Amino acid sequence: EKGGYEHFMIKEIHEQPQAIFDSLRGRLDPESLNITLSGLDTIKEKLIAAKRVIIVACGTSWHAGLLAEYWIEELCRVNVEVEYASEFRYRNPIITPEDIIIAISQSGETADTLVALENAKAQGATIFGIVNVVGSSIARVSDAGIYTHAGPEIGVASTKAFSAQLTVLLLFAIKLAEFKQSASEELRKQLSKELSEVPDKVKYILDSTVEDIKVIAKKYQNATDFLFLGRGYNFPIALEGALKLKEISYIHAEGYPAAEMKHGPIALVDETLPVVFIATKDRVHEKIVSNMQEIKARSGKLISVVTEDDQLAISLSDEHIKIPASHEMIAPILAVIPLQVLSYYVGIERQIDVDRPRNLAKSVTVE
Ligand code: M6R
Repeated sequence: EKGGYEHFMIKEIHEQPQAIFDSLRGRLDPESLNITLSGLDTIKEKLIAAKRVIIVACGTSWHAGLLAEYWIEELCRVNVEVEYASEFRYRNPIITPEDIIIAISQSGETADTLVALENAKAQGATIFGIVNVVGSSIARVSDAGIYTHAGPEIGVASTKAFSAQLTVLLLFAIKLAEFKQSASEELRKQLSKELSEVPDKVKYILDSTVEDIKVIAKKYQNATDFLFLGRGYNFPIALEGALKLKEISYIHAEGYPAAEMKHGPIALVDETLPVVFIATKDRVHEKIVSNMQEIKARSGKLISVVTEDDQLAISLSDEHIKIPASHEMIAPILAVIPLQVLSYYVGIERQIDVDRPRNLAKSVTVE
């Protein structure tokens, strides 16, 4: 059942090229680059008219939502808010019938997300579900939606469901930008083309980085804390990298926007602290390189995920993991892969039951 792998988690990490491919299949035509999302058709006019999109989710799905905020605001020029379902449901939020609520959930059964949606629906909002489990409660409460086609995810730590969520959310953003004519055709086609190449790039990353990451995991397995830093599109990936490590290695980890360091967390940095930078080439690359220099100057250990030709970032790093060049909006989908692998092997080194880490349930059906 684990297909020759030792754990479901590593099997599911390696299934990501397929999960992403399946989530694109029949939706993104690799020849014409046209996108067909039948789930959007029934609410097309509402989507175009919406003044606000509210994304509701928990955990890893919330991180997918945070990245979707960056994508949708950039491409569709509409306000997006990203809410923790547990906070949203209890704080009497202002919801109108003009609002589109996007729910993101692997299981489709997360109690807080489900109730948050039911409340918003009662106030007239349109619910759009991005769900992996067909026919689940959240799928049923949604007015429309797009399924992720990740297949069953058994490991408690979400991996392939996350990359499938990102795939579907970026498809959604590109399609909405087409409806609204809010991004150029050239950009939409470029993103669509690069999205169609993601399965092969993820496979390449898995083929080319795992052995090096095992060595890094061994070296840093006894650290008591880790920081994960990113900016822009890679900030949600920093949060996700930290969550993954916490869940399956029990090492304390925090994700931050890299520039927040000097507002407090930099006080933690000394020669024992590994700091993981997600530093692919993008519009804020120069900025994150200077954040790397700041950590280096304080003797922190730099582990970085970099674009493969980035000699400057590589020269600053104690350890580096190279990923292929891509458009900056695509890079985060690639950058998360080595962080999942790193967490897995740190968990293995520490002899943790990575598929079933303590205190956690695969789906949180109680609040
Ligand atoms: O099934 P959902 O996507 O609604 O689950 C949300 C979170 O419980 C889930 O993502 C959790 O954070 C994972 N264990 C993360 O790996």
